[in-house]
Amino acid sequence: MFEVLPIEREIRKEYPKAAGKKSVIRRWMTVDEAYILAGVAKEYDYFFECGTANGWSALWAAAVGCKVYTFDPVDRWKVYENYPEAEERIVYIDSTWAEGLPQYINDEIKGRSCCFIDGEHDYQNALSDWQAAEPWFDTIVFHDTKMGGVLRVVFSIPDTYYKIVIPTSRGIGIVSKRRLPWVIPSLE
Ligand SMILES: C[S@@+](CC[C@H](N)C(=O)[O-])C[C@H]1O[C@@H](n2cnc3c(N)ncnc32)[C@H](O)[C@@H]1O
Repeated sequence: MFEVLPIEREIRKEYPKAAGKKSVIRRWMTVDEAYILAGVAKEYDYFFECGTANGWSALWAAAVGCKVYTFDPVDRWKVYENYPEAEERIVYIDSTWAEGLPQYINDEIKGRSCCFIDGEHDYQNALSDWQAAEPWFDTIVFHDTKMGGVLRVVFSIPDTYYKIVIPTSRGIGIVSKRRLPWVIPSLE
């Protein structure tokens, strides 16, 4: 595990500040959602992300101790550039998830890695992102389960995974092969 960075209080403040720049921000997770994501990421050494946007969720994963690989074919300004100690452990890859991932994940680190799927939210794209992730990660977090396509993908995942859907403002889905304290079987 990499060192946890002492910037949590600062990045809580970053959200409202940066969210004011509405013209360049696309659909950030809320602070509450970031806390849930960080709680998962803390269990792992590596955090792989589909959908960097402005790097807000990547910043949180780096802050709680992960080495981060984040993929997005649209290169925007990154909020983690304000935090050099976080930035040095984040690798941004200017590529789609499915194309880029196989070049960065491997058998050696896959057991120490989780992933976050937060790209396009329609069913077909969310399904493709899940299919690219499935061979590699035993814990996968989805953002925007309130978008029907993402929820449909989460519900279609086999019951060999524990699943939980948390009704945050945009919805978080966690699927895991591990029975970790934060993962409980879904009731659906
Ligand atoms: C909701 S934003 C990500 C927000 C970010 N995870 C956060 O919370 O700070 C979605 C991003 O996914 C990107 N995206 C769309 N399809 C993608 C794909 N196939 N692979 C990687 N990124 C993708 C979009 O360009 C967009 O920037």
